[in-house]
Amino acid sequence: MTPSSPNSELSNQLSTFEKDILEGLEATPKKLSSKYFYDQQGSKIFQMIMDLPEYYLTRCEYEIFESYKDDLYKQFSKDTKTFNLVELGAGDGLKTQVLLSHFVEKETAFTYLPIDISAEALHQLKERFTTKIPSLNFEGIQGEYFEALAQLKTKNNPSKKKDTRNIVLFLGSNIGNFGNDQSLNFLKQLAQNLNQDDYLLLGFDLKKHPNIIRLAYSDKEEINKAFNLNLLKRLNRELESNFQLDKFSFYSTYIPETGEVRSYIVSEAKQDVLFKKLNKTIKFEWGETIHSEISRKYSAIQMKEIATEAGFEFVESYTDCKGYFMDMLLRVK
Ligand code: AVJ
Repeated sequence: MTPSSPNSELSNQLSTFEKDILEGLEATPKKLSSKYFYDQQGSKIFQMIMDLPEYYLTRCEYEIFESYKDDLYKQFSKDTKTFNLVELGAGDGLKTQVLLSHFVEKETAFTYLPIDISAEALHQLKERFTTKIPSLNFEGIQGEYFEALAQLKTKNNPSKKKDTRNIVLFLGSNIGNFGNDQSLNFLKQLAQNLNQDDYLLLGFDLKKHPNIIRLAYSDKEEINKAFNLNLLKRLNRELESNFQLDKFSFYSTYIPETGEVRSYIVSEAKQDVLFKKLNKTIKFEWGETIHSEISRKYSAIQMKEIATEAGFEFVESYTDCKGYFMDMLLRVK
C-alpha cells in the first residue's frame, strides 16, 4: 500500500454524519439534511414547535385521531384476528397514544412496534406507554426503517395462512421532508417490504392558503429559527466547528406551485468557519444560504396518485374540521 495523503486518511475515518455534513457544506449551493435536527436539544425545540399557535399540523392530526379512532379501529381489525401497528419514527407518541388507548379499550389483540434509529427514543417511549397504557404489547425495534420492516415480513411468512395484518403508521407529515422522487421511492420500498393487504396510514399536510403554511414555519416567537440554528450548535459540539450563532439567521418560504416550504440558514457576514475535527475551513459570503429542510404539502389527489403508482390502493381518508391535514389509509395491492 502506498502511504495515503492526510486527506484520504481523514476521509477513511469519517462517519456518515461527518461525510454528510462536509459534502453538504462543500456543495454549491450549500445544504444540510434536516434529519440531523433531532439531537436532544433539537427534539426539545421540536416539542415547542408543536405547541406554537402557528404550527397547526400536530393539533390537526390529534383531532383526526380523536374523531376517527373508532373508524380506524374498525378498518384495522376487519377480516383479521390480530394486527401489528408498526410506527416509523414515533417521536413522543402523544398522537399515537390516542389510537393505542382506544384499541386497548376495545380489547383488541394487537402489538405496537415502534421503529426508531435511536435506542434512547425507544426507551423513553416504552417508559411513557408502560405507565399510560400498562396492558399494551410494546415491542420496540431499533434500526433503520426498511431493515426492521424486512424482518417483520419474514416473521409473518406470506405463504402460510396470514392472520396478522401489518399496519404501518407514518404520521405527522414526516413524508413532507422528502423530495418528490424520494417520497415515491419511499412508498415503493414500503409497499415492497409489506405483504398484500397490509395497510399504511399516512399523515400529511394539505396544500392550503400560502400564508397559513408560511407562518407555521416562520413563527414570530422564532422557535423555527432556534430549531435550525440548533443544528449549528450541534456541529460546534460534535465537529468542533466555530459557528458564531449571532452571525447566522433564518429564512423560510412557501412555494405554492411545488407545495414546498423551503428553509434556510443564512450567513449574516462574509466569514470563515473552521471545523477543527475535520481539519477544514468553510467560507461563507454575506447572505449565503444553507438549505436545511423541505416540508412538502400535497393535495389529496396528488397523494392518491403517488400512492397508487407506488403499489397501494386507496381505502379511506380523514381530515380535521378545518381541512388542513389528512390521514390517508392505503392498502398494499
Ligand atoms: C417533523 C418534519 C413534520 O416539516 O413540519 C417543523 C419539522 N420543521 N418546523 C415539518 C419542522 C420546521 C416537521 N416534520
